[in-house]
Amino acid sequence: MIKRSHTCGELSENSVGKNVSLNGWISKTRNLGSLIFIDLRDRYGKTQIVFSEESNKQNFDIAKSLGLEDVIGIRGMVVRRPNEAINKDMLTGKIDVEVEGLVVYNESKPPPFDINNRDSSMEENRLKFRYLELRTAELQRNMLVRHQASLHVRNFFSEKDFLEIETPILMKSTPEGARDFVVPSRIHKGRFYALPQSPQTYKQLLMVSGMDKYFQIVKCFRDEDFRADRQPEFTQIDIEMSFVDQEEIIALGTSLIKSLWSKILDVDLPEKFLELTYRECIDMYGSDKPDLRFDMKLFDFSDYVNSSDFKTFKEILKNKGLVKALVCPNSQNYSRKVIDQLTDYLKRYHKAKGLAWMKYEGGKLDGGISKFFPDDIQKKIVDDQSVDENSIIFIIGDIPSVVNKALGALRLELGSRENLINKSDWCPLWVTDFPLVEWDESSGRWHALHHPFTSPHSGDSEMLNQDPGRVRSLAYDIVMNGYELGGGSIRIHDSKQQANIFKLLGISDDEAKEKFGFLMNAFSYGAPPHGGMAFGFDRIVMLLLGSTQIRDVIAFPKTTSATSLMDNSPSKINDEQLKELSLQIK
Ligand code: AMO
Repeated sequence: MIKRSHTCGELSENSVGKNVSLNGWISKTRNLGSLIFIDLRDRYGKTQIVFSEESNKQNFDIAKSLGLEDVIGIRGMVVRRPNEAINKDMLTGKIDVEVEGLVVYNESKPPPFDINNRDSSMEENRLKFRYLELRTAELQRNMLVRHQASLHVRNFFSEKDFLEIETPILMKSTPEGARDFVVPSRIHKGRFYALPQSPQTYKQLLMVSGMDKYFQIVKCFRDEDFRADRQPEFTQIDIEMSFVDQEEIIALGTSLIKSLWSKILDVDLPEKFLELTYRECIDMYGSDKPDLRFDMKLFDFSDYVNSSDFKTFKEILKNKGLVKALVCPNSQNYSRKVIDQLTDYLKRYHKAKGLAWMKYEGGKLDGGISKFFPDDIQKKIVDDQSVDENSIIFIIGDIPSVVNKALGALRLELGSRENLINKSDWCPLWVTDFPLVEWDESSGRWHALHHPFTSPHSGDSEMLNQDPGRVRSLAYDIVMNGYELGGGSIRIHDSKQQANIFKLLGISDDEAKEKFGFLMNAFSYGAPPHGGMAFGFDRIVMLLLGSTQIRDVIAFPKTTSATSLMDNSPSKINDEQLKELSLQIK
């Protein structure tokens, strides 16, 4: 093997006249008769190397047979390129290396796609050959930024006296609300470990142990439906602290995100991020993770409906429903056909029953349901909401959750259709005061919005028994540009209050004991007040890289159906293994 003196990204004019040695992959070859030019690539860059028939016939003949992605080592002299051959797009574009010695380490089969052009192949094919896709400049950069970000996070917390402590991967089920991935035990037949949905219980136990400030960059596993920003296994920056309140955790989280954006992007985020309550977010944006890069707030339409002749909406209001609306510019972009498409989308994905509208054109409201609204009410709508000429008002009436969800989704769709989002903006936001519990129709019981260890807001404890749905919690999320980057809460540290919450959630004493007895027991030996949060590390890196696809920032990701196209997992196991685990496939 030729020991390299330099990488393929570092030689410049300053190296002219030096004898150097390089190792790398062949990225491009050009045969000009008596000269062969090859771009040699490693993860640092590319260097053009030159084989001359005249100076070394043997090497030249070997070079003629070299193909893309072969791995070679060379020795040679750095020379300045003639002016007309200078490539300003390459860092090493002012020099060539004239090859004197050559070793071919390995020849490559023709690659299944062009490593120089990631978009030359369908993602399915790239995922099958992920190790080759990782050779592309884009994924090499993504892995570098991911590494830089994780290093920064580790230093950030270490400097603040946090300890990184590893927690088990084979464990008891955690209560994050998704399905568990389970691992059968060979020794204890019929028993299963669960893979952690998060290290939630362990980090709380570490607070009981007096560890005071814990962090971990940790793999979590959730068997849920996958989307562009979700993977079955993903990485959290997990933190927990003793003797803290919500403000302190919000300040720490702000400082982490601010420093990451500054370090990786050289972007200066504000000292303090905007804070909105959950209620404010839902009321104004129909979502608890609003994209604040554009305005277009939702507003209540009930008063106008009550003064109108539109029976459908009046009926909805009578039945404790909600009617809300938003105003979108460029009414001319919304033909019947487009409105029908939007309606179908909201019906199919967001449970809306319909989408009402009216346009403000030529100084008056027109079309759609405008005829049901008397002139004075029309004028009031336009004045109250400062509706601009050539706007369209979209209106939805239904039960509150459907109205907010559907209009929130419509807002995002319109924001993108109308190009209202400035892609270089960063709009971080803390969402606070989440409801502690929400009613789950399907199971007919209260369900913890964050997880069952979340502390109720001290001002609302009174309502726990009478009106649980109105109790706020000490839970908070951090949101950036419409993505939930992280979330956490101040925890309950009193076993009596915890028992109370379990009762509210319909978790029986026996079930609580079986599932979380170890934690409750630990709390009876002096649990400090504590709280924490977890950031989705993959999502952070995804945003830092300007990507909208979480797979881009994970070396070996799964598809949306949770499979790995490269190694074909999940796969069957043999009968022997099944027998050993006492498992039978039905
Ligand atoms: P939570 O469930 O909100 O909180 O998760 C924290 C953050 O993890 C990220 N995340 C995901 N990223 C990619 N793929 C997924 N499937 C996925 N699921 C979640 C999100 C999310 O905001 N133990 C608590 C934290 C705490 O209370 O301290 C927890 O896990 O960015």
